[in-house]
Amino acid sequence: MSLRAGFESLERETQVDTLSIEGDIPAWLQGSLIRTGPAKFEVGDESYRHWFDGLGMLHAFQFQGGDVSYANRFIESGSYCEARDEGRIVRSEFGTDPCRSIFKRAAQILSPDEVTDNANINVTKLAGQYVSMTETPPPIAFDDETLETEGYFEFDDDVDGDVTTAHPHRDTDRSHVYNYLTAFGRRSTYRIYRQPFESRTREVISEIDVNTPRYMHSFGASQQYVILVEFPVVIYPLQMVFRGETFAEHLIWEPDRGTRIRVIDKESGELVGTGTTEPFFAFHHINAFEQDGELVVDLVAYPDTGIIDDLYLDELRNETTSLVAGQMRRLRMSPEAENIRHERLFDEYLELPRIHPSRVGRRHRHVWAGSQGESAPFVNQIAAFDLDDREVSTWHEPSCYPGEPIFVERPDAEAEDDGVLLSIVLDTDEETSFLLVLDAATLEPIGRARVSHHVPFGFHAQYFDEGPEVRDG
Ligand code: CO
Repeated sequence: MSLRAGFESLERETQVDTLSIEGDIPAWLQGSLIRTGPAKFEVGDESYRHWFDGLGMLHAFQFQGGDVSYANRFIESGSYCEARDEGRIVRSEFGTDPCRSIFKRAAQILSPDEVTDNANINVTKLAGQYVSMTETPPPIAFDDETLETEGYFEFDDDVDGDVTTAHPHRDTDRSHVYNYLTAFGRRSTYRIYRQPFESRTREVISEIDVNTPRYMHSFGASQQYVILVEFPVVIYPLQMVFRGETFAEHLIWEPDRGTRIRVIDKESGELVGTGTTEPFFAFHHINAFEQDGELVVDLVAYPDTGIIDDLYLDELRNETTSLVAGQMRRLRMSPEAENIRHERLFDEYLELPRIHPSRVGRRHRHVWAGSQGESAPFVNQIAAFDLDDREVSTWHEPSCYPGEPIFVERPDAEAEDDGVLLSIVLDTDEETSFLLVLDAATLEPIGRARVSHHVPFGFHAQYFDEGPEVRDG
């Protein structure tokens, strides 16, 4: 089996009470790791084209006194059910478009029933309900034990928008989730909102009208501010209606525009500042925080949007993509988004970065991420970045390709890195995947729990404590 397996469909849904374990799984882990990601890349004799298109599946590892159970199940989204029932690709995904007429296309903009709802990017908990998300609203609710789809998460408001991010920020000081929607139109609008942890009602705190909306997969949030880093990836909404291309093909790289940064006060909703800096691209913000009267914004930067093209399945399966990761970049600026400076913090290439959940919005010392070693065809390491000492350590084993490492704090921890990392690893020699538990401080393996099949490469996971407080990023 080769790396290719990470991009091949997993059709089988399973439920296993006890996985076989090597080493030890800490008994203090009492909760579950739930990850979403693409798992089905063919429907009938049609194929999805882009990695982001695959029909979403949930994987759950539940920890109980050192034992681990496992379940995986498809998310029964409209995209999934219609494809299953009709035996063909019905809904347009990020990089795949079923053939249809211009009239049908125009109707699609007006009819939310036909937009993708393939929730394969991230999971979280809203108003006590587990949800899986993609970049179009609303999220899809599921049962955390059976992973059974429960239907759309129902908001109790009339806040509207066409696209959103699957990276809401949980502000534990304010007990609110922050996120934003973009409403497309002749003039488009960014609608930044907050939602109390236990409520279904969103409150719009700021509306910003834009002529040319940008594509952002995530955004920054410090304790005081929401930060939109608008890379020069421009969307022309009217062209989307009338030209037969996929969403990916409607993301236009226009570097001359530069990267626009907007800083919005979380409390008042006031637009505190707007600035422009050099063009670059990122999927993932790592963190943002205030320091000495300045705003610090860390993200995983790419020189341009070439990475989006590099993630077509043909490229990935044939290993013609050489680099799938970016570099850690720090932006410093005034809260008014003036005097913006860039610094590359490390030379390593990383993706799917995580920090300690309690450091979100505050200065952090440690970042954990997947990283791509020299001449490796894909992310093949877990890296721990120490920003105080500017040191990097890595975990790597031959034929192993890890996913996002999720940090879980040890009970009574004192240091920021006192805990474990959980990551789903594809082992191409064994032809299976396993859940890896690493010591977050040393990257020494503690234990692993193996499943009987491969788990296709996916995106984001969250750890849900059994306790009343949800700790996720
Ligand atoms: Co993401």
